[in-house]
Amino acid sequence: MIDFQEKYKQHSEKLVSFPAFKGKRTQKWQSPSNIALIKYWGKKDDQIPQNPSLSFTLSSSFTKTEIIYEVGGKPGISIQFLFEGKHNPGFEKRITKHLHKLAIFLPFIKSLNLTINSSNSFPHSSGIASSASSMSALALGLCSIERDLFGTLTDEKEFYQKASFLARLCSGSAARSVYGGFTVWGKNEYIPNSSNEIAIPLKTEIHPVFHNLNDSILITSPEKKSVSSSQGHSLMNGHAYEEARYNQAQTNFHGLSEALKTGDEKKFITIVENEALSLHALMMASNPGFTLLNQNTWNIIHAIRKFRKKNNMMLAFTLDAGPNVHLIYPEKNKKALLDFINDDLIKYCHGQKWIDDGIGSGPVQI
Ligand code: PMV
Repeated sequence: MIDFQEKYKQHSEKLVSFPAFKGKRTQKWQSPSNIALIKYWGKKDDQIPQNPSLSFTLSSSFTKTEIIYEVGGKPGISIQFLFEGKHNPGFEKRITKHLHKLAIFLPFIKSLNLTINSSNSFPHSSGIASSASSMSALALGLCSIERDLFGTLTDEKEFYQKASFLARLCSGSAARSVYGGFTVWGKNEYIPNSSNEIAIPLKTEIHPVFHNLNDSILITSPEKKSVSSSQGHSLMNGHAYEEARYNQAQTNFHGLSEALKTGDEKKFITIVENEALSLHALMMASNPGFTLLNQNTWNIIHAIRKFRKKNNMMLAFTLDAGPNVHLIYPEKNKKALLDFINDDLIKYCHGQKWIDDGIGSGPVQI
């Protein structure tokens, strides 16, 4: 079993001085968000998850991040952060904090002046969490800078492993966004080479019924979350259901991996919805308790259950750490599901907004 932290720490000694260059260079990545089917909720120090999670990477919801770098004057972290073309001091502060953490593994960033320009494909006010897409885009960009300055990370696998490791340190779920398709993060006995330090692509054969999943993201509120994910994770320490949750996640993880292999749609629906509702039940039963769901989240869930009973069709809902509903279904049901959204669900969406997304092939360098 590789100890990635140790490996990258040792390697960092070789990543201090690089041949000087004049002027500015640029690396740019487009990296997608992902939706967890088995949820990561609860962590140990350094973003080590308490249970394995399984997600698929999205296609249309992504962040584009451009990093412009030049040899800096004073040693230390020096960045200017622009969000959608405008200087954003709030994000700049957060990214500076992340870069201090990452500099242990990438000491060369302290010798550069960085200008980071980031934008999302989805509106900032859509309630869609951008941490997975933005932190994975940042990590990929930093790995490209390492490759450019030191000639390292030329092996694809090595490149994405390090990007996943660095992304994880900024936002746990971002570790999963560096790959396309289904991705696993967190050590478990079912998936060989699974790790708490990096995510890996799910290599098992996926049954064709799950090949082209759609994810229609129904926006019920554009507001920022009242409780952040990191607060939520920390409320799992000492939670009354702590042990039961981590056991449940292991069981669901195994069950879902099997369902994906065998094409068991019923099992898929049962587990995916159980994970979504368990996540929010954990929030409600935290101390202090809270909920991120609203009336329209429930209206949509009831409508989905009714529609499924009537039409006997493969569709499942899941929820992220927020009130928006992700409606998951295969491509062959798209026509029926679009009618369902337009006829029955759109009235519950804020400003009639929803995002037509689905499983994607992962980040691209642009
Ligand atoms: O990566 P974080 O710290 O924002 O936590 C993400 C938590 C969930 O989105 C609720 C679940 C998950 O696995 O993505």
